Amino acid sequence: MKRESVKALLASEKAGAEVTLSAWVRTKRGSKNVAFIALNDGSTQHNVQVVVDLEKMGEETVEKVTTGSCIRVTGQLVESQGSGQKYEIEASKVEVLGEADANEYPLQPKKHSLEFLRENAHLRFRTSTFSAVSRIRHTLIFAVHNFFNSRGFYNIHTPIITGSDAEGAGETFNVSTLDKKNPPLTEEGEIDYKKDFFGKLTNLTVSGQLEAEAAAMALGKVYTFGPTFRAENSNTTRHLAEFWMIEPEVAFNELEDNIDLAEDFMKYMIAYTLENCHDDLVYLENRIIEEDKNKKAEDRQPMDLIEKLKFVVENDFERLTYTEAIEILRNSKPNKKKKFQYPVEGFGTDLQSEHERYLVEKHFKKPVVLTDYPKEIKAFYMRQNEDGKTVRAMDILFPGIGEMVGGSQREERLDLLLNRMEEMDIEKEELWWYLELRKFGTAPHSGFGLGFERLVQFVTGMGNIRDVIPFPRTPKNAEF
Ligand code: 4AD
Ligand code: MG
Repeated sequence: MKRESVKALLASEKAGAEVTLSAWVRTKRGSKNVAFIALNDGSTQHNVQVVVDLEKMGEETVEKVTTGSCIRVTGQLVESQGSGQKYEIEASKVEVLGEADANEYPLQPKKHSLEFLRENAHLRFRTSTFSAVSRIRHTLIFAVHNFFNSRGFYNIHTPIITGSDAEGAGETFNVSTLDKKNPPLTEEGEIDYKKDFFGKLTNLTVSGQLEAEAAAMALGKVYTFGPTFRAENSNTTRHLAEFWMIEPEVAFNELEDNIDLAEDFMKYMIAYTLENCHDDLVYLENRIIEEDKNKKAEDRQPMDLIEKLKFVVENDFERLTYTEAIEILRNSKPNKKKKFQYPVEGFGTDLQSEHERYLVEKHFKKPVVLTDYPKEIKAFYMRQNEDGKTVRAMDILFPGIGEMVGGSQREERLDLLLNRMEEMDIEKEELWWYLELRKFGTAPHSGFGLGFERLVQFVTGMGNIRDVIPFPRTPKNAEF
């Protein structure tokens, strides 16, 4: 018999049909004669209720059907009166495929903390919350490719192992096969990476941007979507050591075009999720409403999840320069009352997440795009402005998240790029090929990076980035 999914069954018009379903038991309750089993197979947020006549089934089988066990049910699909759903299954046969000893199975039918579920990341896919997040994450991945494909972009696989540190922040994980106890040494007594696997010091990529720029200088519009690694020792709810980044790069785009692209892209992604993940969003929205009941009024979410997502889709992002933002922050109440941990003194201050959140959550109450940052606090590759002080950078800040997107127009003028690399002590030898892109047929171009998990966080309303990626990697944690 053909196996069905819960999603297909609940959406079908098959009342009276005999069906077979394999799935995991979420709960079982019952009386002397019948058991009601809530089954979930991951295809949807909803469980399907199975009604089992205990006498027909035999006591032994029924006892093995516990929360977490896996069963195959055959029975008749009937219209349901009690379960709050269109259909339920009247079982004629129940087979236990895999037991889950009730004394040992960690996920009991009660509320578990997200911390506990993180320690059981191999099992948390089986919870309503994490399965909803997983389905939304999938939908967003799909939306990324849809968006760019429909606009004529080419997807480029950029390398994961590289010799360069694109952001120049020195937060790389090295890749080496040298014997750690006894590495080959140079005459000066330093580790001789010439003898290493790649013949030089290599690391996991912090960004696919530089290689994407090479592709954009021929293919025009490209994007990367790959794993990204940063050895930042940031134990926050927004940082991962391994995360996924989407990086479009477009020839002939200037900064304004770049911002337009980013804003269109984010609105598309959110609208796509609203359209395709309604049930999961409703579930997550209710989850947040429940959580907020235990919070002080000022800590509660100002909008419900779906309303918040619609708001972002329907309203323009606020655009202003870094310098304008600094003025707003300098004159803000928290700054005057010395409530910021890092006081805002003036031009040159690097924005901390408390400042970013003040701008988006308190001042503008919507996503904000900041442009033209001081060159000192941005990467070497950004296009320098006439003023000699600022670069054509843009960051997009989101409520509850802070920085969601970082991008810029790139410095396409060889001499100016060389100057900046000199000033910032960036090794020119390693990036010879990047410089050649400016030497041969250079062109204005722009791009940005969107932190995929931060977007999933925003869309799902999850407070901690560790709860939107299946197996998070953070300082001191690479379990599973
Ligand atoms: O601002 P970043 O460092 O920009 C770049 O890497 C550029 N090369 C992008 C480009 O222009 N092509 O990172 C981009 C985004 C951030 O805005 C943030 O959303 C995310 O990547 N991000 C992180 N997400 C999770 N954990 C971390 N440790 C992250 N670091 C950056
Ligand atoms: Mg950034």
